Amino acid sequence: MTALRDGAARLIRREDYCPPAYWIDTVDLTFDLDPAKTRVLNRMRVRRNPDQPRQPLRLDGEDLTLARVLVNGAGTSFRIDGAQLVLENLPEGDEPFELEIFTTCAPEKNTQLMGLYVSQGTFYTQCEAEGFRRITYFLDRPDVMATYSVTLRADKARYPVLLSNGNLVEAGDLEGGRHYARWVDPHRKPCYLFALVAGNLVCRSQPIRSRSGTDHLLQIYVRAADLDKTEHAMHSLMAAIAWDETRFGLPLDLERFMIVATSDFNMGAMENKGLNIFNTKYILAHPATATDTDFANVESVVAHEYFHNWTGNRVTCRDWFQLSLKEGLTVFRDQEFSMDMAGSPSARAVKRIEDVRVLRTAQFPEDAGPMAHPVRPDQYAEINNFYTVTVYEKGAEVVRMMQTLVGREGFTRGLKLYFERHDGQAVTCDDLVQAIADANPDSPLARLQPQFMRWYAQAGTPRVQISGQHDPATRTYTLSLHQSCPPTPGQPHKEPFVIPVAAALFDHEGRLLPGSERLIVLHEPHTEVVFPDVDSPPIASLLRGFSAPVILEHPLSDDELLVLLAHDTDPFNRWEAGQQLLLRRALAAVRAEGPVHAPLDAATLQALRAVLRHPTLDAAFKELALTLPAHTYIAEQLDEVDPQRIHAVREAMRTQLAHALHEDWIWAYEAHQDSGGYRPDAAAAGRRALTGMALHMLCLAARDSGNPVWPGKTYQRFKDATNMTDRYQALSALVSAGHELAERALALFHERFRHEELVLDKWFALQAGAPDRGGDILPRVQALLQHPDFHLRNPNRARSLIGTYCHANPAAFHRADGAGYAFWRDRVLEIDAFNPQVAARLARALDRWKKLAEPYRSQAHAALRVVAAHEPLSTDVREVVSRALA
Ligand code: ARG
Ligand code: ZN
Repeated sequence: MTALRDGAARLIRREDYCPPAYWIDTVDLTFDLDPAKTRVLNRMRVRRNPDQPRQPLRLDGEDLTLARVLVNGAGTSFRIDGAQLVLENLPEGDEPFELEIFTTCAPEKNTQLMGLYVSQGTFYTQCEAEGFRRITYFLDRPDVMATYSVTLRADKARYPVLLSNGNLVEAGDLEGGRHYARWVDPHRKPCYLFALVAGNLVCRSQPIRSRSGTDHLLQIYVRAADLDKTEHAMHSLMAAIAWDETRFGLPLDLERFMIVATSDFNMGAMENKGLNIFNTKYILAHPATATDTDFANVESVVAHEYFHNWTGNRVTCRDWFQLSLKEGLTVFRDQEFSMDMAGSPSARAVKRIEDVRVLRTAQFPEDAGPMAHPVRPDQYAEINNFYTVTVYEKGAEVVRMMQTLVGREGFTRGLKLYFERHDGQAVTCDDLVQAIADANPDSPLARLQPQFMRWYAQAGTPRVQISGQHDPATRTYTLSLHQSCPPTPGQPHKEPFVIPVAAALFDHEGRLLPGSERLIVLHEPHTEVVFPDVDSPPIASLLRGFSAPVILEHPLSDDELLVLLAHDTDPFNRWEAGQQLLLRRALAAVRAEGPVHAPLDAATLQALRAVLRHPTLDAAFKELALTLPAHTYIAEQLDEVDPQRIHAVREAMRTQLAHALHEDWIWAYEAHQDSGGYRPDAAAAGRRALTGMALHMLCLAARDSGNPVWPGKTYQRFKDATNMTDRYQALSALVSAGHELAERALALFHERFRHEELVLDKWFALQAGAPDRGGDILPRVQALLQHPDFHLRNPNRARSLIGTYCHANPAAFHRADGAGYAFWRDRVLEIDAFNPQVAARLARALDRWKKLAEPYRSQAHAALRVVAAHEPLSTDVREVVSRALA
């Protein structure tokens, strides 16, 4: 955190990029680890970059105590300029020189969890994006790549395990009960991929032989009590290694690949070379303590970090503006991996739907709000604020569009060329697109490449308006597509995008018109496409598989949507048709005057019943199709948002579904029970998701009827469940129906899992996210802040209680009395004082305040202004709130 007193955060601009004036070729680090005072000796081989004008060497440093600087073994003059160490009297000539820097830091006081810190008695590091400068003075930028050797020295009893990147080359005892380990990483890397871990950990080891016959050791390090929760992560890692070899021909390039889990982590996980460090949330999974969602998340995050070994580490980013080069590409790769792991076409579609839901409920609002930025941003005050759904998930959609434009094989060819050209380099997003286009010279991507790059340059979600015209005389159907993109901060005018629109036509009986499937590639504002041999007005199914991250405005009638919901051969669009129907009903009820009453009509209910009772659809698909459009997704469709009204409409719809489909929910619950043991596969998880939804509905119906049967059964299931998914679903059904058994179940749950941190996070989150009834959630959240198990400094715990309340419970947060915003204001400031990254994420809960109706809007505004005026304030939070207020 650099607290700026003058209030204006300095902006870093992409156009100002300049190569470094010096290169650092080798780094030899020696750590004497001590929580209060760790000593770091940093010996570097440095040489001037002959392509740059001669200038002083400026090294970044933060929260370091400098003891000594030597150049070629002799003392030298230096000065400190802000956060930089400046060396002016360097050797003449262009010979490399040895630079030695001695510093100390205080890991136990490091509450930001960037750099070297202590969590539960163990040392960990987090260096991306700019944490290495909190360990030693350095050129802390990704285009400076060096080879590292690291010696760790520490008390042997307290820190028996000493890890760093690469291979262990030496270890032994020292006097005074200390020991040491020396690690050498043969791969050059930027400093953001440096890592060390020292502590009392145990590990699961797995030797493997690759397809090409090389041997490797895989290890997952955790606390002793968690060892039985590492099997799924190890399986996921092995599956990811095999997948990357098969799908992209990318092998594991390390003798040793290690993962370490920590309870205190700002983000999900980090791909340090050969030594990934993970939030425990994305490693630990046991059927008794983790849900199906947790199992799926572990699989995808383990794969994500592993895939970074090529997309991120072997080829890295030239500067942080290129973040999506590695993140968008790697998210795309982990999404593809999860789809391949899911297996069947419908299970793949379920994964796709889930990914699109994230995009629509989180990325679209970001792209429409004050923090809107291109996939490759042009400027930032704090880079940590740009680890966003835009850079990650929209970035992945941009990569997916490239695959769509060049085909699956063409894409693999493109990546191959990318690695041939750039292995070992720090490059830009242009280099990635160039390689894929060059490997596919006849593709629309190659033809439209400069225009395609607008996806990296222009923020905002494009809209595509559709109209269709059938001509019986010529037996043609003409589709007109018109694209536009609303202004975003700093970008009032947008040029047209390259938008791949996957299309097909159906007749009114739901039959696919033969030969009508095609890929339309928009690149002008207006496009017309003529389909031949169409006898009667068809129904167009567009943007199939969500072929581009855009908003489609397609005025299909309800009847046409019902046909697609029943018959579309693209499961994504089948789901989408149902969502559009539900969204229409929701919007009509939100916009209507007077009390909310029964928003769903008989035809919609009947169609949903048909989906639920369908003989061949997957349970997982049914659960998604019967899930109402998210609160935030509905809000995005409105110019002025009354959160209470949206909540009331969604509750009324849920109640209708619960009552109208009562018999069907009973059937669904009973027909989808699993007998055998727990397995986290997609089919079994889908059945559990659907039975869980059924229980929610049955408990909701019981609330109105007063019939105790289903709440009783649910409570019983909660107690008897043999896995966390079923147990949590039952608990959540009682809590969400507001049943009196909920309190008893919550108490029992806490009692049983009070030693399981990740389960306690669920316990806090469930209460913070429960449906608000008369403003009862905020007082509960406030009381839970005082709970002995609540720890504000642990990011997972803070997010589970405070994050869930502010980000995921709109009806409880947006209170007419403004108390939710006052709570937000106080927590943002409280957390900012010790962990700006976590505070800045929380600060974004009011991003969309300008859309709120009164009295919410004025009250949100007032809370934002208090935060913005607070001194001191981190650059992180300042950037978020000042953009919100701009
Ligand atoms: N590169 C990590 C990933 O796999 C994220 C690290 C983010 N860290 C941060 N301090 N912003 O996505
Ligand atoms: Zn990543």
